[in-house]
Amino acid sequence: MASLSETSPVTVPSLIAAKGREPIAMMTAYDATTAALLDAAGLDVLLVGDSAEMTVYGRQNTLSATMDSMVRHAAAVSGAAKRALVVGDMPFLSYQTSASEAVANAGRFLSQAGCTAVKVEGGRRVLAAVEAILAADIPVMGHVGLTPQSYRKFGGFKVQGREGAAAREILKDAAALSEAGCFAIVLECVPEDLASEITRAIPVPTIGIGAGSSCDGQVLVFHDVMGLSSGVAPRFVRRYANLAPIIQEAARAFTRDVKSRSFPGKEESYSGAKLSAVSFQLSAGGTRARRP
Ligand code: KIV
Repeated sequence: MASLSETSPVTVPSLIAAKGREPIAMMTAYDATTAALLDAAGLDVLLVGDSAEMTVYGRQNTLSATMDSMVRHAAAVSGAAKRALVVGDMPFLSYQTSASEAVANAGRFLSQAGCTAVKVEGGRRVLAAVEAILAADIPVMGHVGLTPQSYRKFGGFKVQGREGAAAREILKDAAALSEAGCFAIVLECVPEDLASEITRAIPVPTIGIGAGSSCDGQVLVFHDVMGLSSGVAPRFVRRYANLAPIIQEAARAFTRDVKSRSFPGKEESYSGAKLSAVSFQLSAGGTRARRP
């Protein structure tokens, strides 16, 4: 039986209830235009990911994300989403320094950006921050496995939990986050049998990215899905559109038309200027035209 209504807004309880009933579809979004399109397409969760640093700002990693920039992107997405639950991704150093700073920063995603929840990377090592945020009644989505903010420690963006001991640590991290009260947990780049074991072991939904098909939901980065990312996509990406050449062709056509003066045409221009009135305004000091 489906548990996520197609018309009413997705909530934290409805998402938890979807576990074992209906797979959860989540995608990143960073702006209002995209958020409105994804929301109307039926995405259950929109993640305002700190991957914005890479997809929007062209950086090599996510470490430069700031609270101010994340809150601004999150406000744009929340303002446009009617049904999807919007999650704000807590940037590097916004929750690791102290529990009180973690609560204040998490709170901004709700009070200033209109998000429903925040996402925090890491397991038991960030548990104090997660517990403090939860104690302020701010819903938290956990994130274990390959946590991109730790990529320096990992030595790159690599699959995590391949060895038994490392796999057990990830399982313990997921269990600790779930026991603390996280409403969902992202599993990134872990072997599918480990993801399957975690999914069976915890009562809240797992959302996989490079974690196989047994997770309770799946998340991908918008730019990867739509064919807007440059370079080689990770193995776990499925590309559903190839927008880059379409956008480039449209931009080329516009440039061609401007250069050849075939844009704008008559139908894209306004007629009927009363030249005498315009000259009068200019001579009277009025230089700004209003946009009709
Ligand atoms: O920032 C992001 O886009 C993420 C996803 C990869 C889960 O954290």
